[in-house]
Amino acid sequence: MQKISEGPVTILAIESSCDETSCAISRDGVILSNIIAGQAVHEQYGGVVPELASRAHMQNIVPVVDAAMKKAGCTMDQLSAIAFTQSPGLIGSLLVGSQFAKSLAMALDIPLLAVHHMQAHVLANLIPGSANPVADPAPLPSFPFLCLTVSGGHTQIVVCHSPLRLEVIGETLDDAAGEAFDKSAKLLGLPYPGGPLIDKHAKEGDASRFSFPEPQIPGLNFSFSGLKTAILYFLQEQRAKDPEFVEKNLSDICASIQGRIISILLNKLKKAARTTGIKDLCIAGGVSANSGLRQAFRETGESLGWRTFIPAFQYCTDNAAMIAITAHYKYLAGDFAPLSVSASARAEW
Ligand code: KG4
Ligand code: ZN
Repeated sequence: MQKISEGPVTILAIESSCDETSCAISRDGVILSNIIAGQAVHEQYGGVVPELASRAHMQNIVPVVDAAMKKAGCTMDQLSAIAFTQSPGLIGSLLVGSQFAKSLAMALDIPLLAVHHMQAHVLANLIPGSANPVADPAPLPSFPFLCLTVSGGHTQIVVCHSPLRLEVIGETLDDAAGEAFDKSAKLLGLPYPGGPLIDKHAKEGDASRFSFPEPQIPGLNFSFSGLKTAILYFLQEQRAKDPEFVEKNLSDICASIQGRIISILLNKLKKAARTTGIKDLCIAGGVSANSGLRQAFRETGESLGWRTFIPAFQYCTDNAAMIAITAHYKYLAGDFAPLSVSASARAEW
């Protein structure tokens, strides 16, 4: 029989679904530490190489866990449970985190919590005072709230009825928003991951300079593959006329691409808010780090009377703090995983 602690709930959480190895410690839902080790090894390949990611996780996991424990001032005997990202993600990467978490839970004889990565992105909005824990006791969203989750692998609109009951009401039929950023960046000759670079160049550019099409997809679903093709043909045509077209117009091209991705996302979110009547809206996932999206989301919220919530920057891209907060709610609900639980590359909710 595992030990269920009676005092404060202290969770060690591990995230290893893609190319970030991260460990966070939470106590009673407050994040004490959140250490993230990135993997520069993929840059030269223009995308994440799964086998190299697994190997880098193996090298990073012990130092990252050690650093998170030290920063939190936490000792092993204070831990109430071990949490890990179970799905979705790269299977080799998930296996490193899940095996480590299982071994630690077994050695300490404490419960194990298996967390869904996309649920965790949404619940990053429930990390208290995430913008500035001291000066900003910002309110948390009330249930039910809507969340636009935009990452490298997923684009979803979710109704969050409670921390453990989420309903996907719209998603992408092809590429994710992050892929739209990264693939556009690749066409422009920018290195991977291109999203943050498009963001950077877009700040200097004119978003109305070039016009890219908005796909007409019924309901609350998204599609980004048509946009990618339109950008490809546009660049081919312009480069045929002037081989230096991209170099000369990089900021305006980036601003125009980013502007279109943002309008596709926010038009669907507006529709979701209209159809559900929900007024508390959140964004989450790596693309929610985009400065243009953050600003446009806030402005849209102001004009439509929404309360808008955005996780602190460090909780937008992959991190273990979001795994810890989700695990905290699972712990309170007694939703523990057996040691036989296995990682899964794809998983429906
Ligand atoms: O959530 P995340 O860290 O990993 C996944 O779960 O996929 O998201 C990664 C994605 C990448 O596509 C990356 O280019 C994008 O988030 N991203 C951004 C920005 N920062 C990260 N996209 C646009 N602007 C940014 N500032
Ligand atoms: Zn993610």
